[in-house]
Amino acid sequence: MPRITGYRKAHFNAAHRLYKSDWSDEKNLAIFGKCSNPHFHGHNYEIIVAVTGDIDPDTGYVFDLGILKRLIRSEIEDAFDHKNLNVQVEEFKTLNPTAENICVVSYNKLRKHLPSSLDLEVTLYETPRNFVSYSGE
Ligand code: NI
Repeated sequence: MPRITGYRKAHFNAAHRLYKSDWSDEKNLAIFGKCSNPHFHGHNYEIIVAVTGDIDPDTGYVFDLGILKRLIRSEIEDAFDHKNLNVQVEEFKTLNPTAENICVVSYNKLRKHLPSSLDLEVTLYETPRNFVSYSGE
């Protein structure tokens, strides 16, 4: 059975601040640069969700991308879009909202809704040139 990967792209705008509360403002600025601005700032995030598995002989799909679209909307876009991640999103009240951590949180939110037979990879763009990806581990 051919294994194939299906992709769905989505987008959200969100604000964040990268900092560690037990570090001084000077140290936060030295480590996180502009992203430690105490007044927050926004990014236009792009997320690419990839599901890999066998083509279902009945449907011809690896996974229904319409279902994936709705899952991304409910788990990612509704949760993060136009939010201040540090203040309004439970996961990031105690977890620094770096691209890395947003990517892992997104993966975990999607993973639990997908069949275990599918491999999942989430790629998150924080800027057009800076992106991370996570596929479990
Ligand atoms: Ni930033």
